[in-house]
Amino acid sequence: MFLAAAFRSAVSQTARQVRSLHQSAARAGAGGVFVHRDTPDNNADTPFEFTEENLKRIDAIISNYPIGYKQAATLPVLDVAQRQHGWLPVAAMNKVAQVLEIAPMRVYEVATFYTMFLRQPVGKYFIQICTTTPCMLCNSDSILEAIKTKLGIKVGETTPDKMFTLLEVECLGACVNAPMVQINDDYYEDLTPKDMDEIIDELKAGRVPLAGPRNGRFSCEPAGGLTSLTEPPTGPGFGVRADL
Ligand code: FES
Repeated sequence: MFLAAAFRSAVSQTARQVRSLHQSAARAGAGGVFVHRDTPDNNADTPFEFTEENLKRIDAIISNYPIGYKQAATLPVLDVAQRQHGWLPVAAMNKVAQVLEIAPMRVYEVATFYTMFLRQPVGKYFIQICTTTPCMLCNSDSILEAIKTKLGIKVGETTPDKMFTLLEVECLGACVNAPMVQINDDYYEDLTPKDMDEIIDELKAGRVPLAGPRNGRFSCEPAGGLTSLTEPPTGPGFGVRADL
């Protein structure tokens, strides 16, 4: 009886989450197409200079690598450029190539490969929702629907006031706290549609909601409490046989 009910529940849950093929991770809103097309705000002549503070930061990054291997700093220096500008126009990539003394193509290769590099502008709050299998099984579709309904945008779009961009992404490495979203640098985990609604309301009100799990657990501890390692560990030598 219990098994039959559990089976019916699993089937109906699965049925709710069936989606047509190839609906994930539309990159057009942020990472964009892989081919660069010149636009008025994204061409080789767009002014881009690192700030003095960021130039010092870049010097410190480069000093982590052996002399002659500046290219190894491509990822962190691209990150500095993106944090300064909000996204990576081709002029910023060219500047990264210049400070690292490498061919611009070496930078383009990296920036187009890693999806965290945004080659088109995004809203003030960049919401990335994970819909990979563990999150999907924990009903990430309901979170996605809640965001779309609340903001009135689809995946890959930005709200008209440029406050929110929504993107569907693959695993963000927080599966144990599924379903989850990343908003700018923060992870919001163990979400329900109501949580998502509240998080967006907080952001709209200019506040930064507390990041982390929303179901009361600490970090990724078991939701039902500890089932092992419930006592302080014993010291070394415990259990060693005296006759050995
Ligand atoms: S599957 Fe969503 S964080 Fe890993």
